[in-house]
Amino acid sequence: MKKIVFLLMSVLMLLALAVAGCGGTKEESKEAEPVKLLRVGTEPAFAPFEFQKEGSAEFTGFDMDLIRAIGTKLGYKVEISSMGFDALIPALNSGNIDVAIAGMSITDERKKVIVFSDPYYTSGLIVMVKKDDAAIKSFNDLKGKRIAVQIGTTGANKAAEIPNAQVTAFNDNTAAAMELKNGGADAVINDSPVLKYYLQQGGSADAKIVGEVMNSEDYGIAVKKGNEKLAAEINKALAEMKQNGEYAQLYKTWFGEEKK
Ligand code: ARG
Repeated sequence: MKKIVFLLMSVLMLLALAVAGCGGTKEESKEAEPVKLLRVGTEPAFAPFEFQKEGSAEFTGFDMDLIRAIGTKLGYKVEISSMGFDALIPALNSGNIDVAIAGMSITDERKKVIVFSDPYYTSGLIVMVKKDDAAIKSFNDLKGKRIAVQIGTTGANKAAEIPNAQVTAFNDNTAAAMELKNGGADAVINDSPVLKYYLQQGGSADAKIVGEVMNSEDYGIAVKKGNEKLAAEINKALAEMKQNGEYAQLYKTWFGEEKK
């Protein structure tokens, strides 16, 4: 009788051990989910939206903070790479990047080839001339003038409308502003917040803005056509940030004022 009880107890203990063991192995084999990567492209000579502080390789600015926050919310590891502004849409379409954020205005032409998120910032074009220029007072005085713009931008399109103007398209806006400073151009057409920031950061020693902001352009985050799912995720994160005050905080950090 004792033997039988002992045997039974042994069997039960073994069973208990086996069950515990199973549980254990199950826990251990549960692998951590691989982190999804969000490959972001930008053209980082567009302060305060995207730029690199002198001597730093890090991308900083409103857009950069925004996409990092959106990426984190969606569970992505955000990896940002830099390329020409006119290379962003081809990079999306070839699948080299998942997202482009670069102060990119939502236009009907671009909407034919890529998908935009909901708007995240309202901008517009403006004219910058030399500080001592008394002749150019607005866009209407640009006929026959030498205009510097950035390649592939809405500013470049606007310049193309000016009768007899000599338009030079530069790879980045820094080069366009330099051309004005060096006397190689009479005016620059670019996004108003970017030119205003440039003047604030020391550019006002040689240059000034003339006329009013000419139009209204909304910036959007771009993804490849067919990737509407990612655009929807981005919109959700963006809406959440607008709702919970994170967006307002970012806006204040970079533009120094409350969003109107
Ligand atoms: N908003 C203008 C456009 O979409 C200029 C954008 C330039 N952006 C840049 N990161 N350089 O054409």
